[in-house]
Amino acid sequence: MPAKILSGLEVSAVVKERVRKAVNELKGQGVQPCLATVLVGDDSASATYVSSKQKTAKELGIATRDHRLKASFMQQELLDLVQLLNNDPKVHGILVQLPFPKHIDEFAITSSISLLKDVDGLTPYSAGMLQNGMAHLKPCTPSGIIEILDYYGIDVAGMDAVILNRSNLVGKPLAFMLLERNATVTICHSKTKGLAEKLRGGDLIVTAVGNRGRFTLTADMVKEGAVVIDVGTSRHGGNMAGDVDFDSVKEKASWITPVPGGVGPMTIAMLMKNTVSAASISRGMQ
Ligand code: GUN
Repeated sequence: MPAKILSGLEVSAVVKERVRKAVNELKGQGVQPCLATVLVGDDSASATYVSSKQKTAKELGIATRDHRLKASFMQQELLDLVQLLNNDPKVHGILVQLPFPKHIDEFAITSSISLLKDVDGLTPYSAGMLQNGMAHLKPCTPSGIIEILDYYGIDVAGMDAVILNRSNLVGKPLAFMLLERNATVTICHSKTKGLAEKLRGGDLIVTAVGNRGRFTLTADMVKEGAVVIDVGTSRHGGNMAGDVDFDSVKEKASWITPVPGGVGPMTIAMLMKNTVSAASISRGMQ
C-alpha cells in the first residue's frame, strides 16, 4: 500500500488559524504583534522565502518590518541594525535570513538577537534551553516537523530516527526535539560513512540536503514502513523538488511529506506562532 501523505498545507492552515485568533486577542489587549525580517544580499531563493514570511504575517494581522540590504552591507552595520530592532518596543520578533554573504559571521549576528525576540530559536540561549527541554522559542523547521507528526498521531517513542542534516536550523535542534520524545537519534552528514545503510535502519528519516545533484533518497535506502520527512528543496529538471525520489519511496514508506506542500509551509506557520509567543512574552513583561 502506498504511503499516506503528511500534508504540511493542511497542518499549517490549522496552526495559522490558531495564530490568527491569538493575534486578535493580543490586539484586543492593545498589543500589535510585529515581525521584523532582515535579508542581506540578493540570493533569489532567500528573497522568495522572506517575501512568503512577510505575506503570511500580513495575512494573519501581524505587522511587519522588511529590511533588505545590499550584499556589501558590513557586519558592524548589521549588528547595529539588530541592536536597533532589539531596542524597538514595537518589534516582537526578529528573523535574520540565512545564509549570509561570506564576510558576515553568522554566530556574531544570531547571538546578538534579543533572547525575547529570537523567533528563529538560533541564539545560544535558545539552543541551550532546547537541550534542556525548556525552550519557549524553538527553530521553526524542526518545530514544524514535530507539529506534523503530532497532528497525524505519529508517536516517535522508541523509533530509530535518522536525520540527514547537522545545521543549527534543522538537524541539531530536531535531534533534541526527537530525543525529548524518546526517539533514538542518529545525525548523518556529508562525511558519514555507510550512509545508505544508516538510512535503511531508520523508522523515521528526515532528509534536508537541498541539492538533488548531490543526494537523492531512493527506495533502496528506506526501510519498509518508515516515516519519511523531506525538508530539501532544489531545482530538479526545471521543477522544485525535494531530496526524496517521491514516486518510488512512497511505495515503501508508511507516511511521507510531499514537496511542495510538506515541511515548507510549516516553517512559515511556526515562525508566525513564535512571533505571537514573543509578543505575549513581551506583554507579560510590561
Ligand atoms: N534560511 C532557511 N531557512 C531559514 C530559517 O528558518 N530561518 C532563517 N533565519 N534563515 C533560514
